[in-house]
Amino acid sequence: MFAYSYLRAAKLVGIGLFVFSLSMLAGPAVSASQDPAPKPQQSQDHPEFPAGDGRETTLRVCSKCHSVNNLLATGRDRQGWEDLIVKMVSLGTKGTDEEFTDIAGYLTASFPPSFGAKINVNKAEVKQLAMTLVLTSDESKEIVKYREKNGDYKSLDDLKKVPNVDAKKLEAKKDKLLF
Ligand code: HEC
Repeated sequence: MFAYSYLRAAKLVGIGLFVFSLSMLAGPAVSASQDPAPKPQQSQDHPEFPAGDGRETTLRVCSKCHSVNNLLATGRDRQGWEDLIVKMVSLGTKGTDEEFTDIAGYLTASFPPSFGAKINVNKAEVKQLAMTLVLTSDESKEIVKYREKNGDYKSLDDLKKVPNVDAKKLEAKKDKLLF
């Protein structure tokens, strides 16, 4: 569990000023959310963040110093997200224990380890290909079959030669491919 309670004490000694000066240090990524008690952002902002408990809290608390898009770089398990939150608290993130618990829950549910993971198309099994690249299992089987017959893929172009696989799907996930 988190032990963030000391932050409440810090709040009493002028969190507003503190957050504001941190924001100034952090530079231009900071926007209107430097208010110490900002209103939750509207849900239509940040469409990459799926609906779920803790979403608004996450967007509010984690957008004070940098873009929340930082959160989209990699998926993590609960421990990983909690460790990250602890690090952010050490860097000056303000919030209550309840807020941090909500944020950890939201991030774990929305961005699990498989989120943002890359996949080695020369090693991956059918199921992994299907999950990470959002292919049908038939398409994933074709990828494995072609690999077994023709050897390792060296590039996206090689992969696009596989019959019966939608090249648009591969193109969409090209940042996730390792060869
Ligand atoms: C008080 C300012 C501040 C707030 C608020 C803040 N961060 Fe950060 N964050 C930083 C700084 C500074 C860095 C760069 C530090 C580094 O990379 O070691 C950073 C980097 C990151 C990174 C990329 C580096 C890494 O370790 O993966 C992620 C992800 C991240 N923050 C997530 C969060 C989350 C989640 C929250 C909300 C709980 C949050 N941040 C709130 C200051 C803040």
